[in-house]
Amino acid sequence: MHQIKTYNAIAPEGMARLEKEKYAINESDQPEGIILRSKKLQEADLPASVLGVARAGTGTNNIPVDACTEKGIVVFNTPGANANAVKELVLMSLLMSVRPVVQGINWVQQLTGSDVDEQAEAHKKQFAGQELEGKKLGVIGLGSIGAMVANDAYRLGMEVMGYDPYVSVDTAWSISRRVHRAKEISEIFTSCDFITVHVPLQEKTFHLIGQKEIAMMKNSVHLFNFARAEIVDNKAVMAAIQADELASFTTDFADEKLLHHDKVTVLPHLGASTAEAETNSAKIAVRTLKNFIETGTIKRSVNFPAVEMAFHSPYRITVINRNVPNMLGQISAVIADSKINIDNMINRGRDQYAYTLVDIDESDESKIAEVAEKLRATKDIIRVRVIKKEEVPY
Ligand SMILES: NC(=O)c1ccc[n+]([C@@H]2O[C@H](COP(=O)([O-])OP(=O)(O)OC[C@H]3O[C@@H](n4cnc5c(N)ncnc54)[C@H](O)[C@@H]3O)[C@@H](O)[C@H]2O)c1
Repeated sequence: MHQIKTYNAIAPEGMARLEKEKYAINESDQPEGIILRSKKLQEADLPASVLGVARAGTGTNNIPVDACTEKGIVVFNTPGANANAVKELVLMSLLMSVRPVVQGINWVQQLTGSDVDEQAEAHKKQFAGQELEGKKLGVIGLGSIGAMVANDAYRLGMEVMGYDPYVSVDTAWSISRRVHRAKEISEIFTSCDFITVHVPLQEKTFHLIGQKEIAMMKNSVHLFNFARAEIVDNKAVMAAIQADELASFTTDFADEKLLHHDKVTVLPHLGASTAEAETNSAKIAVRTLKNFIETGTIKRSVNFPAVEMAFHSPYRITVINRNVPNMLGQISAVIADSKINIDNMINRGRDQYAYTLVDIDESDESKIAEVAEKLRATKDIIRVRVIKKEEVPY
């Protein structure tokens, strides 16, 4: 029985993928897998039994990823599963930043009398807005969300400029060629009317937009943060808003200093809060973790390379090791010394770590356990697993 621990409510459509005969949920403090959403995971939540942590969502800053990597725990996320939900909220916010619809709706509600229609017509001028068409939008970070925002804003008639020095080949293909690529981030700051940020929170992106960056912007800029609170320096934003150096700020992250200002809109982290996004993320997180537990396949990991190989042999050995010279040679030698035949093998490295799958033509469990122990004792090997191929019923 595989033990799984969940934190937060994970959509049942996702959890249903863990068959009752094979998976026990929240029955052990020594789980093989953890599935979570926003729970801030501490190192203490990671007993030695944990092989993988799957986040039903994109950002993984609530997970101690470096500590996981060091322990050979694979961390997965579900990039793209909630991108459409965030994109729709960003588009709505772009429109709302120039059309005071909420103010108009609230104003109509407090009218009284049989002539509300006439009153509405007479005073509607105060809620006149502007249009997005022809205005220039800057999108910082062209990943799953940024790419969708850029494409759809273009379809709304905006001129769009994107900035992402690390854009992946996949998303690069999905971005309309009409989206102009900025070579420097400063091009976005100095030339756009609307600026939206869609980068992950990392050391390099902490306060990516602060006083210096806002100073480069036109005073008429509408700024949006649907990425992570810490990516924008809210103190600098408020100083600019109060000095009329920024037209508006919309953020998905509540912060006391942003409240009660009519040019600042604060949403209670609603980006991915749609039924569709929660279901999608849960399904993908569960499928990824289950595949890893049952076959060792790594897909959508933030700390280990993607590795996949068809599983035909009776047993598979998986090895996580430091990415130093001759590890593959040592792994093969330990297995060959035990007179075990290797059927198939794949190895991928990523930064300082590497991952290897070795399929062996051997069914003697004690012989395999012996080899696994020898591998565990090898310098620079962090984790070794032995996986038995499951019989798939036809
Ligand atoms: N508001 C919400 O509820 C909500 C929901 C989902 C995601 N998010 C946030 O949005 C972020 C983006 O999500 P995504 O699914 O598009 O992620 P993604 O990984 O698909 O895309 C992130 C992009 O940012 C780029 N990038 C990284 N550093 C950069 C930098 N310094 N300058 C420019 N580009 C840079 C990467 O190359 C990548 O293309 C997530 O990391 C998460 O923090 C928020």
